[in-house]
Amino acid sequence: MKNTLIIYSSIDGHTKKISAKIAEYLSEKDNVDLVSLSDADTLSLKNYQQIIIGASIRYGNYRKDLFEFIDKNLEDLNEKENAFFSVNVVARKSEKNSAESNPYVNKFLKATKWKPKNIDVFAGVVDYPTYNFFDKFMIRLIMWITSGPTNSKARFEFTDWNRVKRFAEDLTKFN
Ligand SMILES: Cc1cc2nc3c(=O)[nH]c(=O)nc-3n(C[C@H](O)[C@H](O)[C@H](O)COP(=O)(O)O)c2cc1C
Repeated sequence: MKNTLIIYSSIDGHTKKISAKIAEYLSEKDNVDLVSLSDADTLSLKNYQQIIIGASIRYGNYRKDLFEFIDKNLEDLNEKENAFFSVNVVARKSEKNSAESNPYVNKFLKATKWKPKNIDVFAGVVDYPTYNFFDKFMIRLIMWITSGPTNSKARFEFTDWNRVKRFAEDLTKFN
């Protein structure tokens, strides 16, 4: 049995939810630990054979601590089975829904020396009722410009959960 660590960088919890689903699938074959990026520093990566990192986008960016963590642990990451996934709403569009075509996957790969062995992207959530005035205004504007939903009383989940399952299954193929 392989020890797998899943690390999530999530603000509103959706990347955490996707990570928990991946953990559920992987735990059929692996020992899985699931932690937030801020808690990951307290663990020794030496104890794991596989590391998966998932991170969401906010106003075009990942959090700075994501890159700090990867830089600091680059050697450990490269030694192991590893994977990265990005969560953003641009990925709801079919032409931006692959690791190759999603602008935030490209942005990630340009910003780090890490070359993850498996990469995927999942469309996230727009949850207007939970946003503050400014975020609601901005996200509605972005959605309007990109032909997305603008009903500010509703929650829109774009995640393809079958794809999340396939991502997890691919990671266990060589167990
Ligand atoms: C304030 C805010 C800014 C966002 N900016 C972007 C963005 O620039 N591009 C994008 O594709 N998605 C953007 N999103 C969508 C998030 O990536 C999406 O809601 C994701 O599910 C959030 O994941 P999390 O809950 O793990 O943080 C934004 C969401 C919020 C609330």
